[in-house]
Amino acid sequence: MSRWFVTGGNGFIGSNLVTLLAGAPGTTPPLAREIVIYDSTEAPASRPIDALRQAAGARGNAPDITCITGDILDRPAMAEAMAGADYVVHLAASSNVNRSVEDPFFDHQNNVIGTLNTLDAARMAGVKRLVFASSSAPLANAAPPIHEDMAPDLGNPYAAGKLAGEAYCQAFSSCYGLQTTVLRFSNVFGPYSDRSSGVIPTFIRKLLASEPIEIYGDGSATRDFIHVSDICAVIAKAATDQRPSRGEVFHVATKAETSILKVATLLVEAMRARGFETPELLFKPERVGDVPRSFSENSKARQFFNWQPRTTLEKDIGDLVDWFVALKTAQT
Ligand SMILES: NC(=O)c1ccc[n+]([C@@H]2O[C@H](COP(=O)([O-])OP(=O)(O)OC[C@H]3O[C@@H](n4cnc5c(N)ncnc54)[C@H](O)[C@@H]3O)[C@@H](O)[C@H]2O)c1
Repeated sequence: MSRWFVTGGNGFIGSNLVTLLAGAPGTTPPLAREIVIYDSTEAPASRPIDALRQAAGARGNAPDITCITGDILDRPAMAEAMAGADYVVHLAASSNVNRSVEDPFFDHQNNVIGTLNTLDAARMAGVKRLVFASSSAPLANAAPPIHEDMAPDLGNPYAAGKLAGEAYCQAFSSCYGLQTTVLRFSNVFGPYSDRSSGVIPTFIRKLLASEPIEIYGDGSATRDFIHVSDICAVIAKAATDQRPSRGEVFHVATKAETSILKVATLLVEAMRARGFETPELLFKPERVGDVPRSFSENSKARQFFNWQPRTTLEKDIGDLVDWFVALKTAQT
């Protein structure tokens, strides 16, 4: 039981991680004694911090949850907030690839300087380990399945920023003895993604608004969709692992390839099964730079962390639709 510091803890993955660490009902017992969420935006309406405290408190052994509105670019503020932390999970980032293409300097500030600041604060705080949320993006142009031994092949500034963050993790381990672990996530889906720009929440929002799903190209492009609970399980294992880690890299993925057309079809079927009318799919011209196929090996993470993905897109997509429908109902 320990003190966790989660940058970006109010985002999609952060909201799920904080819920897991807090041991809210429906999850495992709490993993943390104290959780500090450090984020530049407020907690999402879908996961109000007070409700999380109450839910965790109902179990009787709830951790303290502190929510600090702060910027990872504000070094002194973050260093002060991080004092006494055992584990740092660095999720805060600009996670919008298109925005990185439009404004690479914004992406660099948030994702490279922000990561450098977080590593430096972690070093000064003497934390046990920092887990860095990287992405499969640095290998997006390589032939799938991508894996840890492949050379990077980058397609956009977001990928460059993530690779730079990985490099700083290794450098801080080498120079300062800070234990760092790099997790490269594939495409993550699950609850609390209502503010996310990912393909699945975007499609669900369209369907809930009775608007057609827009597909760029013919829909044959593939992605590796992993449930956020599987991601959070690995984050928790990676942070608390006792073995030395000098920026060790792990792909956290399912190794399953699903086409965008299949995702759209599954969502339309799920909506129709719940009584919603759904418009025809709208096919638009392919976008420059879109990756045609993407999926990742996961054997290194499976073996090292004694982990495996618990669920699949097919199994959980209906639950996610129910979650979005319930949220919309609660908000209207
Ligand atoms: N969601 C995915 O499919 C996916 C895939 C690969 C990697 N990742 C990475 O995982 C991490 C979390 O992703 P997510 O989907 O939860 O993203 P998200 O956008 O939902 O959450 C990111 C959070 O970081 C916060 N943030 C951004 N800039 C900040 C700053 N300067 N200071 C403080 N807080 C800041 C935002 O307010 C937000 O709450 C990111 O680093 C992302 O690049 C996500």
